[in-house]
Amino acid sequence: MNCPNTGRERLMTCPAAGGKLLVVPMVGSHWLSMQEVVEKLSQRGHEVVVLMPEVSWHMKTSQAYEVLTYPVTQTLEELDGAFSEYVATFLRGLPFPLNVLDMYKKSVHVFNTFFGQCKDLFRSQETLKALNQSGFDAILTDPIFMCGPTLAHYLSLPFVFFMRGFGCNLHFEAPQCPSPLSYVPRLFTFNSDRMTFFQRVENALVSLLELKYCDGFYNEALKLSSEVLQRDVSLMDLVHSASIWLLRFDFVFEYVRPVMPNMVFIGGINCAKKKPLPKLVRGSEQLVCFPCISFL
Ligand SMILES: *[C@@H]1O[C@H](CO)[C@@H](O)[C@H](O)[C@H]1NC(C)=O
Repeated sequence: MNCPNTGRERLMTCPAAGGKLLVVPMVGSHWLSMQEVVEKLSQRGHEVVVLMPEVSWHMKTSQAYEVLTYPVTQTLEELDGAFSEYVATFLRGLPFPLNVLDMYKKSVHVFNTFFGQCKDLFRSQETLKALNQSGFDAILTDPIFMCGPTLAHYLSLPFVFFMRGFGCNLHFEAPQCPSPLSYVPRLFTFNSDRMTFFQRVENALVSLLELKYCDGFYNEALKLSSEVLQRDVSLMDLVHSASIWLLRFDFVFEYVRPVMPNMVFIGGINCAKKKPLPKLVRGSEQLVCFPCISFL
């Protein structure tokens, strides 16, 4: 094919001019917003391969992209069970601080259950070999479970995050955004950006806990990454070198704060598919929409 070297024409007539992208998504509602982007990238001439566990929520093959599945040990019932238990803790209405402890414990449990799929990925030598031999240019990943960042380091590929946010202020800490404790309220404090003296003290105390509680939360993920990458890995090591942070929220709904130039707010993407609210929502669909878990 006769391909012009630059410009719009090249993109339209020569698909090979696009890049080769590996997508490492997360199951469930997260995937639904990512799918729109993945399809668009594919339409624009990039070669896109989506890595999917054999058992998942909402993930399907499509004509728009190639799918590479890997074997997993868990059943759909196990995933559903862990998630229902997790959501039930939000509805139980325990008093503070029992509610927070309970949520933390159940979050760790649901995390570890889903993280089992990442362990399965790194057990599948066949999949790893295929990935390494495919010559990808970059990875697009939802990093909440740290599987995508681990794989990106393992394959030595640049990576782009597509995400809602981490706990522990990590998505501001890792790109080194200033995050002054007097003005930026921490997750779970329910303060606003106008804090009294005591709220600022509370904010400071919560911020002291931040890296600790995430280390607990990501304990299994850090163990696996350290094993896979054959060195001691911290959360910061895994995420700080992300090339671009595509953030699925809008800062006007959060707090005014300085961000880095490689952080892009794309909250509108959640509204790409408009539909009237269904009259009756049943089962897991209802659980996925629960607002308290939206940061996950
Ligand atoms: C990927 O393949 C290259 C070339 O075959 C090899 O040198 C490299 O060690 C492999 N990397 C991994 C992570 O397997």
